Amino acid sequence: MITRAVVAGLGTYVPEAVLTNQDLEKIVETSDEWIVTRTGIRERHIAGNDETTSSMATEASRRALRDAKITAEDLDFIVCATNTPDTIFPSTAARVQHQLTEKPIPGFDLQAGCTGLIYGMETASALIKSGKYRNILVIGADKLTSITDYEDRTTAVLFGDAAGAFVLQANDNTEFGILSSYLQADGRGGDLLIQPGGGSLMPASKESVETRQHYLKMNGNETFRFAVKALPEAVEEGLKRAGLEVGDMDLLVPHQANLRIIDAAVRRFELSPERVVINIDRYGNTSVATIPLALQEARMEGRLHDGDVVVLCAFGAGLTWGSNVIRWGR
Ligand code: ACO
Repeated sequence: MITRAVVAGLGTYVPEAVLTNQDLEKIVETSDEWIVTRTGIRERHIAGNDETTSSMATEASRRALRDAKITAEDLDFIVCATNTPDTIFPSTAARVQHQLTEKPIPGFDLQAGCTGLIYGMETASALIKSGKYRNILVIGADKLTSITDYEDRTTAVLFGDAAGAFVLQANDNTEFGILSSYLQADGRGGDLLIQPGGGSLMPASKESVETRQHYLKMNGNETFRFAVKALPEAVEEGLKRAGLEVGDMDLLVPHQANLRIIDAAVRRFELSPERVVINIDRYGNTSVATIPLALQEARMEGRLHDGDVVVLCAFGAGLTWGSNVIRWGR
């Protein structure tokens, strides 16, 4: 008997406040034209002071649970991918459990840069295949603006806040669900994308704060070079593990970090516009939330059909990269 993890529910949350490129022109030396041409981003949503990674994650989770027509009490496990937990400990997963229900639910945070959501889906899929868990909440939530340096124009223009959540459910004897995953990590590129301060390597100090070490630092050019290779590799390897080829892919849902990186993959695979989801213009890079946000948008637009082969793929800090191949439907 084949047991697979199928997507039973999907929910997203985007904060209300919008930061446009024109707003950013007043904060750092930049221009709408530069940002649009180099990244494809026009605006992004910014969490308020009263919103945290866990509050956004909880709202997305509530929506995913409603979509799956189950309650939090039905959940067996919570996997929360994030790079900006409310606190290093306790985990965001435990905070979400507490905000959702009084019933204890096992769970943990997973940190794999922007690839965290892909790692989370594979982890949940493996837990489901083990036969021990049937309903797992996989969350991707980040408040990246909490670690964005608004004095550094090379990164300030890129990021937004959001959360997404999937309910993955065990389904026996099904053709639907997660068919395969491909995960990679290579620490040699660790310094390309890093939050240097606040960990055990550089605990918070007056000096670490004054030198702005608690903000995200990125070598944009090198990250770009890595990403244009990593994304196609993740797609091809994921499909190969499912016994499929690029021609079998109905919809590509790539991490939304830069339109030029997505365009490079689209050109390489000769994809027509209806076979790729792009919404970076309205949300910027929301890290682990970009994929649920894009997938939800595709679903709302009626672009997902039962039986479709959907490929989620991402890259990020670590360096990490990977993909999930899903046969859509439940
Ligand atoms: N506005 C105006 N000018 C700028 C800005 C800005 N916001 N930022 C940089 N510039 C300038 C630079 O100073 C540079 O000027 P110079 O030529 O006088 O030195 C010039 O623009 C070109 O800078 P580059 O860094 O070469 O610009 P590039 O075309 O590489 O674009 C970018 C930069 C957008 C960051 C790009 O490198 C990129 O997208 N990299 C990948 C980022 C990525 O994928 N990150 C996500 C990884 S994981 C995660 O999601 C967290």
